[in-house]
Amino acid sequence: MKLLLLGKNGQVGWELQRALAPLGEVIALDRHSGDGLTGDLSNLDGLSDTIHKLKPDVIINAAAHTAVDKAESEPELAHIINAQASEVMATAAATIGAWLVHYSTDYVFDGSGEQRRLETDATAPLGVYGATKLEGEQLIQKSGCKHLIFRTSWVYAARGNNFAKTMLRLAQERDSLNVINDQIGAPTGAELIADVTAHAIRVAMQCEDVSGLYHLVAQGETSWFDYARMVLAFAEEAGIELKVKPDAVGAIPTSAYPTPAKRPNNSRLSIEKLEQTFNLTMPAWQLGVTRMLTETLGK
Ligand SMILES: NC(=O)c1ccc[n+]([C@@H]2O[C@H](COP(=O)([O-])OP(=O)(O)OC[C@H]3O[C@@H](n4cnc5c(N)ncnc54)[C@H](OP(=O)(O)O)[C@@H]3O)[C@@H](O)[C@H]2O)c1
Repeated sequence: MKLLLLGKNGQVGWELQRALAPLGEVIALDRHSGDGLTGDLSNLDGLSDTIHKLKPDVIINAAAHTAVDKAESEPELAHIINAQASEVMATAAATIGAWLVHYSTDYVFDGSGEQRRLETDATAPLGVYGATKLEGEQLIQKSGCKHLIFRTSWVYAARGNNFAKTMLRLAQERDSLNVINDQIGAPTGAELIADVTAHAIRVAMQCEDVSGLYHLVAQGETSWFDYARMVLAFAEEAGIELKVKPDAVGAIPTSAYPTPAKRPNNSRLSIEKLEQTFNLTMPAWQLGVTRMLTETLGK
């Protein structure tokens, strides 16, 4: 099997390089790739030519304009990368009979209420990032290509920066730390997303009926505030000196931390469809975060 991975160096893309390796030949590109191949999603013609040239069995798109606040001031670029490039990939996939695996976000919802959103629930993005990601989903669905679209949330990875590392740094540097406590979601590891993707591709190769949209997040829920306290408690237990102890973290509402893009308060996603279709049991969010912290702190 030939797999084309786009966005190979993002959080999810990096883990996909590992998880996809046993499935076959993986051609992994990023925006700087050369050799007559285009991995830059803003080069729509080049992207289409690359897919037609390589004729992969599966295209996995881990690239996106993910800078949520920046997207508010560069909506055209966000639209090209998140929506138009998705359409180009989907059209090419439909023409060559390939599968398209794509990632979307809880930001397609407005975050009202407290219930877990189903894949069939009404969407209402609050900002440019969510709106362009939603359009990307819809263009893929309209194209008629075989696809797996995974909506995920609160993604972290051991490699690079993440929320947990930021909290650790701030708790060591500052005398006080306030964290938002009215946004609820499930921190989901890039490792888990990549492993579930590889599993789902194996299933899809045997059964085209699984083509569709799925919510893919870890089990359970938390707030950024409780997540931060969990991280600091783990660090304290590991003997790390903190100026701000877990119990001293202050809880603030979203309104006290204004950002250019509005974020949903309720990011709870139902994972029943994913678990049933692919015969999976998603692990609790704490499992992946604990592993990541153990790796990060070298304990
Ligand atoms: N992060 C989250 O919390 C979150 C939540 C829900 C859904 N998602 C979705 O999950 C997927 C993976 O996200 P992630 O967390 O792995 O994101 P990420 O770490 O920000 O990675 C995104 C990748 O896309 C690349 N990229 C940006 N513009 C590009 C372009 N024009 N051409 C080629 N590559 C380009 C970036 O490359 P550069 O580094 O060179 O810019 C980066 O490697 C995305 O579809 C995202 O929308 C993420």
